[in-house]
Amino acid sequence: MEICIIGSGYVGLVSGACFAEVGHSVVCVDNDQRKIDMLLRGEIPIYEPGLEELVQRNVAAKRLRFTNSIEDGVDHSEIVFIAVPTPPQSDGSVDLTYIERVAREIAGVLKPGQYRVVVDKSTVPVKTGEKVDATIRRYNPSAEFDVVSNPEFLREGCAVPDLMRPDRIVVGSASNRATDLMKRLYEPFQSPILVTDVNSAELIKHAANSFLSLKISYINAVSAICEASGADIEMVADGIGMDRRIGRNFLNAGLGYGGSCFPKDVKAFIAIAEELGVPFHLLKEVERINASQLDRFLKKVRDALWVLRDKKIGVWGLTFKPDTDDVRNSVAIELVNKLAGEGAQVAVYDPKGMVKAVEYKLLHPSVRLAESPLDAALGAEALLLATEWKEFARQDFAGVKANMHTPLLFDGRNLLNPKIMREIGFDYHAVGRP
Ligand code: UDX
Repeated sequence: MEICIIGSGYVGLVSGACFAEVGHSVVCVDNDQRKIDMLLRGEIPIYEPGLEELVQRNVAAKRLRFTNSIEDGVDHSEIVFIAVPTPPQSDGSVDLTYIERVAREIAGVLKPGQYRVVVDKSTVPVKTGEKVDATIRRYNPSAEFDVVSNPEFLREGCAVPDLMRPDRIVVGSASNRATDLMKRLYEPFQSPILVTDVNSAELIKHAANSFLSLKISYINAVSAICEASGADIEMVADGIGMDRRIGRNFLNAGLGYGGSCFPKDVKAFIAIAEELGVPFHLLKEVERINASQLDRFLKKVRDALWVLRDKKIGVWGLTFKPDTDDVRNSVAIELVNKLAGEGAQVAVYDPKGMVKAVEYKLLHPSVRLAESPLDAALGAEALLLATEWKEFARQDFAGVKANMHTPLLFDGRNLLNPKIMREIGFDYHAVGRP
């Protein structure tokens, strides 16, 4: 099928590449000429395992191309995806100006007799589809189209496998014609397709991400009880996770959730519920618990070092989770900056996150970028693990300890084995485990 994706960011680019991979003819559109130029040169603006090869293979096979022209994209395609950013506003509600603008632009290029399915893939508040529909009709009363909601559930770091083999595909549609086209589009993915009305599909995305955030905050709240009682959160999580109704996924206690989705989506869902007159207090507690994880962790560091000023502290990790270069809303960055803000001499190492942390000027000016995990630990009075990269677990810890001033180790993601760390001679502290 012939499709276009407006917005070549994370969701748009990975979706475009995956649709091309299963044989569709895909045009990715973006109004950022710099990004389009990069993509035309074969450069990928984000780090995502497997994406570069996927893009190169499908460009070479002429199933994937890039343009800055919405008209070109819409002309080419039976299905037009909208995958532009929906950033948060200062009150937590969603900024829909990019969606609205794209809706007007699509209206401006739709030709008479040219039926198109306009699919919203960006995460949007419930009832946005109705507004997109009304906007296109207002700016082009003779346009023939249907608006469909098709939220994306990919995770950064495993976006390609998530997209190629999704747990489910949600299609919110009020038109049989549009639903049939969407089913044909997704046929090669061999995943269950749930067809709903447009409003329900939009709500599913916010409800799903908020539920996963709630699951993380739940286990983090239990981790605080473990610390107070001497129980071990890893055993507790295994014990409750073995109940198939609960499941072990997303029960990893740590420094809390970050990234460009959960914090934003929980806030947005709170704002959406508020606006609809049904306040969602439970989600406010989810946010409170999430913020308290970093505070509790910092308290442990302060309890051990007393005063942070002038202390040499090594930090492993900057990205909001492993296997990505994304440092947006990363708890690790917040941790590093709080330490540096209190006068500690922080040296940090991250396998992929340092370039963007510098490019976006996210780090306190006093923070030193280390060349390796060992370099970050050199002479340190404490070493803090903030992101659970596998590479960190594989370090020669006897060598790390030998190069530190004091063998104090704080594992903010419960990545390491407490028994082994203590045998090596570390004064080891984790989250919610003795
Ligand atoms: C998330 C959703 O999983 C995905 O479906 C949606 O489309 C976008 O948002 P992502 O933000 O890429 O994906 O990362 P995810 O793997 O879900 O992790 C989010 C945050 O939660 C990370 O900061 C991670 O460290 C944290 N987390 C996750 C925990 O603290 N504990 C867990 O058990 C799982």
